[in-house]
Amino acid sequence: MLFRSWEQAPAGTGVGVAHWPDVARVVDHVGVEHLLVTRHALVRQVLTDPTTFRPDNALDAVTPMPVAALRVLAAHRFRLPPTLANNGGASHPAIRALIAEALHPTRVAAQRDWLATLVRQRVAGLSAALDTGAPVDLHAGLAADLPLLVLARLVDLPDAPLAAVKEFARAALELFWAPLDADRQQALAAEVGRFHRLLREFAATGDGLVAALRTAGHPPDVVVGALFFLLVAGQETTSQFLTLLLHRLTGEPAVLAGLRDGSVDVADVVEEGLRLEPPIVTWRRVAAVDTTLGGTVVPAGTSVVLWLAGAGRDPAVVQSPDEFRPGQRGSRRHLAFGAGVHRCVGDQLARMEATTLVREAAPLLSGVRVLRPPHYPDNLTFRMPDAFVVRR
Ligand code: HEM
Repeated sequence: MLFRSWEQAPAGTGVGVAHWPDVARVVDHVGVEHLLVTRHALVRQVLTDPTTFRPDNALDAVTPMPVAALRVLAAHRFRLPPTLANNGGASHPAIRALIAEALHPTRVAAQRDWLATLVRQRVAGLSAALDTGAPVDLHAGLAADLPLLVLARLVDLPDAPLAAVKEFARAALELFWAPLDADRQQALAAEVGRFHRLLREFAATGDGLVAALRTAGHPPDVVVGALFFLLVAGQETTSQFLTLLLHRLTGEPAVLAGLRDGSVDVADVVEEGLRLEPPIVTWRRVAAVDTTLGGTVVPAGTSVVLWLAGAGRDPAVVQSPDEFRPGQRGSRRHLAFGAGVHRCVGDQLARMEATTLVREAAPLLSGVRVLRPPHYPDNLTFRMPDAFVVRR
């Protein structure tokens, strides 16, 4: 269940939403026990208490790396020091503040028209292809690269090798969050390590955000680590969400009709999408001390897996948990972006990208037939759709 938690009841219980256990002990594929937290209130409690539940394990590999893969990473001088999501230390606020400045709402808003024009052009091309009866891949055409193009403009990565960034980001999500065998780990370690080397060069000389991090006196390893995280978190998550949302909307004709006649608000659609189709389905914390959670004893060192996707469907906070009803009571109370001091700093950017896409691309979705829905590989945390093919 841990690796496909978007499609199953927790802990293989097979029970309906109203009967989920609040917390469940789940043993993973390598025999490690995790405490899975399903309820909105408890997930929120953990996220907002970084003293009791530290973020240190956020980027730990869920499949422990064998020596051969570790050697590959070491040969590339790969390191992931605490920077952002995995940083419970004193340096976190200052690093976060620089990222937040680069992603300031006015800077994000300034990208909207540029993105809308680009999406409009893409939609016109896809629409023309659909008119001829050809199948089109909406993931490749509308979701895969757009967030990276915007991020590159915001944090000054003008010459970023886009295809290489995408490949590296997906390799990283697999290496750290998927159940893997040793051969695959070694191959992924080589890919991630190679890219890390490129990042080190860029971090030493680049402009924009990396220059700001350097000037503020953060050590080179920290600049690279922050950039590494941002290049994954700042674009792959949103790409995944855009495809999840487009796919969901093809199955929601009433919502598409509402978007057409203006009775449904685009921002409400995006929030309901985040609630029901979050690209990050779980997030981890580690218990710093012996404690209890919802009446369950939690020894220090326990890996706590927060089921963000489940929290969004908790009947305690949302009126019709499993239905896609934009604007319904509780719709915006999802935890797709986390909560507390580590809450996603790119939420406004992700929302801007998603509202722009829905506004421009929703008309394309009416009347299409899904030829091939996205496939989602096993992963503790990320959805990682590969393609989404439709035909008119
Ligand atoms: C739909 C898209 C996205 C989702 C669902 C998402 C979700 C999340 C989640 C769940 C966390 C962990 C929060 C916590 O520990 O409480 C997080 C952290 C973070 N996200 Fe996002 N994210 C998205 C897009 C973005 C974008 C576009 C950026 C930047 C360009 C970004 C940058 C970050 C950063 C830097 C952190 C670490 C914050 C910290 O530790 O202070 N994310 N995100």
